[in-house]
Amino acid sequence: MSENVIDLQESNGIARLTVNRPKALNALNDEVITALGKALDSLEANARLRAVLLTGAGEKAFIAGADITRMREQTPREAQAFARRALETIKRLERLPVPVVALVNGFCLGGGCELALACDWAVASDNAVFGQPEVQLGIIPGFGGTQRLPRRVGPAMALDLITTGRKIDAAEALRIGLVNRVMPQAALDDYADELAGQLAGNGPQAVGAAKRAVYDGMEQDVDSALALETNLFALCFAGDEQAEGMAAFVEKRPAIF
Ligand code: CAA
Repeated sequence: MSENVIDLQESNGIARLTVNRPKALNALNDEVITALGKALDSLEANARLRAVLLTGAGEKAFIAGADITRMREQTPREAQAFARRALETIKRLERLPVPVVALVNGFCLGGGCELALACDWAVASDNAVFGQPEVQLGIIPGFGGTQRLPRRVGPAMALDLITTGRKIDAAEALRIGLVNRVMPQAALDDYADELAGQLAGNGPQAVGAAKRAVYDGMEQDVDSALALETNLFALCFAGDEQAEGMAAFVEKRPAIF
C-alpha cells in the first residue's frame, strides 16, 4: 500500500512527488514517511535528475501536518522515534543535489509546513494557508520547524507563528519570506513546469555546488563558510560546465549543459 501514498513521476529529469492521502488532507504518517524514503532512494540514484517538485494530492491541501490520529496514542519514546525517522527523511530531501520546489496547493500546516521549509523553493497558490499549530495540540513542531522556520523568516516571526499557532494566508507567507511566489491555483502547475524547466537548464554541477555552499555554510562560522564557498567556486573550474557556460556567453548562444 505504501506505493500509493506517494506518487513519483519523472519526465526529462524533472521529478514530481505527490503526497497522496487527500481524504486525510495528505497528513504524514509512518507509511508516508516510508514511501517518501523509497522515492528518495530512486531520486538519489537518478543521474539524470535536474529538479524535484513536491506537492499534495487534491485541491484542498498540500499537507495538513503530521497525522494526529497516529500521534494521539504515542508514548514519548514512540514520538521520538517517529520524529527522528521523519527528520532523517526530510533532510535527505533537502540535501538532494538538485533544486526541490514545494508546490503549496492549499493547507500547509505543522509537519507539512516543516516539509515545505526543507524545500529550496516554495511556490504557493493564493488560497494556501500556513501555520505551525502544534502548541494548540499541546506539542511543539517536531519535523524541524523550530530550526528551519527561524532560519527562513527570522526568530521573531518564527516565534510569533510557533507560540500562537496562528494560521497565515499566502500573501503574509510571501511578505515574511516563507514562500518565493504566490499565484492563482489554476496557474500553479504551468508555473511549476516553467520554473522546473528554468532550473533544469542551468549547470547541474553548479546548482548542486550552490546548494551545498548554502546549506553546509549555514551550519558553520562565517569564515569557514566563505572558505567552503571558495573551494566549491574553484571546483567549478575543474569540470565541463564552466567551459561550456562561458564559451556560450562569448559565442552569444544558449549554454547546453
Ligand atoms: N492528521 C490527521 N488527520 C487530519 C489532519 C491531520 N493533521 N488534518 C486533517 N485531517 C483529516 C480530518 O480529520 C478529516 O478526516 P475525517 O474526514 O475522517 O473527519 C479530513 O482530514 C478533512 O479535514 P477537516 O474535516 O478537518 O477539514 P476542514 O476543512 O474542516 O479543516 C484543517 C481543515 C483546518 C486543515 C483541519 O483539518 C485541521 O486543523 N487539521 C489539523 C492541522 C494541524 O493541527 N496540523 C498540525 C499537526 S501536528 C504536527 O504536524 C506535528 C509535527 O510538527 C510533526
